[in-house]
Amino acid sequence: MTSNVHQLIDTLPKAELHLHIEGTLEPEMMLALAKRNKITLPYDTVEDVRAAYQFDNLQDFLDVYYLGMSVLIEERDFHDLTWAYLTKVHADGLTHAEIFFDPQAHMERGIAFETVLAGITSALEQAHRELGISSKLIMCFLRHLSEEEAFDTLACACKHKDHIFAVGLDSSEQGHPPEKFERVFAEARKEGFVAVAHAGEEGPPENVANSLDLLGVSRVDHGNSALKDAALTQRLAQQQTPLTMCPISNLRLKGIPDLSAAPVKKALEANLLVTVNSDDPSYFGGYLNDNYRAVADALTLTEPQIVTLARNSFKASFLEDSEKQTQLDRIDAQVARLRPA
Ligand code: ADE
Ligand code: ZN
Repeated sequence: MTSNVHQLIDTLPKAELHLHIEGTLEPEMMLALAKRNKITLPYDTVEDVRAAYQFDNLQDFLDVYYLGMSVLIEERDFHDLTWAYLTKVHADGLTHAEIFFDPQAHMERGIAFETVLAGITSALEQAHRELGISSKLIMCFLRHLSEEEAFDTLACACKHKDHIFAVGLDSSEQGHPPEKFERVFAEARKEGFVAVAHAGEEGPPENVANSLDLLGVSRVDHGNSALKDAALTQRLAQQQTPLTMCPISNLRLKGIPDLSAAPVKKALEANLLVTVNSDDPSYFGGYLNDNYRAVADALTLTEPQIVTLARNSFKASFLEDSEKQTQLDRIDAQVARLRPA
């Protein structure tokens, strides 16, 4: 791999659009918070925690992910978690983040919605002030829970429209298709929330089409299986519906046998608005730039393709057009700096 490609990856401004904040919990922080909050985990050491990160599928991972987040109790825990992520990816050139959080996974442990939200938003505000990182927050419904519970969670979000920009749909895709949440998403959009959903991660292309048609999503998270359906691929290209792909996640959850099977290049070649993201970087062993490097190497992406991915990350974001333009200009300036005419 040419070092020029890696130099671009290291230095281009980028947005991350598919990132579960609870999936950034590093083993060291997990154990420290367990101690601070007197939570018993089945792990004693960082090595024990990492040894548990062997997954055969999405559900294997989700079981460990929900267990790990049980150490998050106080507002400052959510603040520390979010701040740790932002400072780390600041070094990757991240200038904008659209971040998922899973309030139901905390509320069912007795943590107040407001505790979670206050901790995350105070870190986002600090990152804006001190690191120049802009952000938006996306509240996810857990799709393995009921429609009624999703409606209750939406009611919580409606009290905090100043801090929550969009709603999403995550957790177990198998057995919980998008149509289960059609009415919740209709209500959320009526309340003014933008909609996104995980689809086509383990599920069929119909889950992608139904997320568009029944949930009214503006962006599809993963969307991998859509590439198996030529008509759907053409539709995504024509509508320029963004896909937030997560190659190292796909590898670690055995959605693909190796990184050369990541559909990022195929999506670029089909003119899709594809982006590269980390999903749950602590659990999958790779932050934003690790994901860029992984696909660049495995798929021998060219310099223009890396620039396109960075540009796509802003085009696919929920920033205002003028803010997108500012970020795209920053990319152009960095490209010019690396390649003086
Ligand atoms: N929650 C956290 N990470 C997820 C993923 N990759 N898919 C579905 N739900 C998730
Ligand atoms: Zn995800």
